[in-house]
Amino acid sequence: MKNKITVSDVLIVGSGAAGLMFAAHISKYHNVHLITKDTATESNTRYAQGGIAAVLSIDDSYSKHIEDTLNAGDGLCDVESVNVLVKEAPARIFDLICMGVDFDRLTDNALQFTREGGHSGRRVIHVGDMTGQAIESALWDSVRKENLKISDHRMVTRLLVKKNVCYGVESLDRDGFVHHFYAKSVFLATGGAGQLFSKTTNPEIATGDGFVMAIEAGAEMKNMEFIQFHPTALALAGAPCFLISEAVRGEGAILRNSQGNRFMQDYHEMAELAPRDIVSRAIVSEMEKSSEDHVFLDMTAKSHDFVESRFPTITRTLREYGMHPADNLIPVAPAAHYMCGGVKTDIDGRTTIQGLYAGGEVACTGVHGANRLASNSLLESVVFAYRAAVNADRRIRYLPSDWWENLKPVVEQTPSQRTDQKENTQQLSGLMQMLQETNWRYCGIIRSDQGLCEGLDRINDIEKRFRAIGGHESSHVKALALANLIRLSQNIYPAAITRRVNAGTHFNTDCVEQNPGNI
Ligand code: FAD
Ligand code: SIN
Repeated sequence: MKNKITVSDVLIVGSGAAGLMFAAHISKYHNVHLITKDTATESNTRYAQGGIAAVLSIDDSYSKHIEDTLNAGDGLCDVESVNVLVKEAPARIFDLICMGVDFDRLTDNALQFTREGGHSGRRVIHVGDMTGQAIESALWDSVRKENLKISDHRMVTRLLVKKNVCYGVESLDRDGFVHHFYAKSVFLATGGAGQLFSKTTNPEIATGDGFVMAIEAGAEMKNMEFIQFHPTALALAGAPCFLISEAVRGEGAILRNSQGNRFMQDYHEMAELAPRDIVSRAIVSEMEKSSEDHVFLDMTAKSHDFVESRFPTITRTLREYGMHPADNLIPVAPAAHYMCGGVKTDIDGRTTIQGLYAGGEVACTGVHGANRLASNSLLESVVFAYRAAVNADRRIRYLPSDWWENLKPVVEQTPSQRTDQKENTQQLSGLMQMLQETNWRYCGIIRSDQGLCEGLDRINDIEKRFRAIGGHESSHVKALALANLIRLSQNIYPAAITRRVNAGTHFNTDCVEQNPGNI
């Protein structure tokens, strides 16, 4: 059976902040097919708590936001990209407000700002501790529905590329059928890869699919060794690594070690509000000294009313575990949070493959360098997805009329086929756990040469076992996720092994040279 060839103007892979911002803009002019692998609302974006950074107050300035971003990135940011990020932030925030995001206000005319790690002042706007959900829902409402086709529960498995031109994607629906979709431009917005690690703030969808598809397609990747660990995830036996926002520290909470002593002032002049990589390493050091698996976050100086109204999700979640943040010290420890590197793009979201754009966490625009400044991720997603949409719109309008003819002969043969869904989920789960624990131990917050080499050996061994059980031939969602996480790990270890100067999130005890900001 021959597939009916459907060519849309644009394919978007992923329905987080980046995919939806791109869709909101480009659907005004072109027909869009958005493919997302879970429910349409599932994403990292949905769980974003702290907020989105932007210079919106007369007490702030572009130069301060730029400087804070560069400092957090530990000398490895792309200065041009940082300038774009910071200077286009107010316009994109204005768009979000027009789309209906109701950021918290002090008065009708004044936004409320909070502070987070690495920021020299209050510049993060928020919607309680549910900022991501508010942004996602407003973006969904703003996409021009008559130009949009949504395929949810459909996993994209491959980018279709010929002569370095991306002309579509291969995908798998939940019944195991493979389909090809074609488009004049493809926007990759598949988010992060927190599931590489046994401890992560990320939901299950964060299996790094987009990174692997881009690698397989031959796109240039950048900074893959820089993985950010959030300092304060809930560390309670039997509970998930639920994020306790940095904004909690921004509002005055302090960190205490197991003796009850405050310690961050001994590690950095910004104490609890130092950049995230520094706070994470300081916590690891305190945990090692005490042989405990957590430190404590202390918000007890705040009133019940304050924490309940300012952090409703955090309060509700902690209550499920018998704690109230105004009454109890919260046990916390670092967890994998964010991929600073990714598919290399220019400031218009263009990758090194023609027709392929990338945005959000899967992209490396250069703004984060070795460590992302808090609340710059939602911002990067909306600023650069918007720019990519403007560029893709132009590309589509000026694409030569015969562009498709060069690619068509290959793709016409693609059959719609049902793949074999082998059920070996128990073995897959066991291997997944091994991979996550290996990466946590050897490619985590503190690395060493020997550990990185041993970690890579173990990952290669996991791959052998995966193949031995037929995992590489299976189209089971778990097998595809594990295949991607194996491949991604095999990309990250060599990047980490070859970086010989510690910077930001990459800390190798065998590297003598340190960037000045690295403790
Ligand atoms: P995502 O929002 O993760 O969306 C990716 C989409 O791609 C999803 O819809 C997913 O289902 C889909 N997808 C993935 N693979 C495939 C595939 N193979 N086929 C089809 N679809 C696929 N950043 C901030 O700036 N401020 C914050 O306050 C903040 N808080 C955070 C709190 C938490 C708990 C977490 C986890 C992250 C937080 N971040 C925050 C980071 C930020 O939320 C993310 O980096 C950002 O939302 C990424 O957006 P995205 O659109 O790139 O990806
Ligand atoms: C948080 O709320 O602490 C997360 C903010 C971020 O990841 O930028």
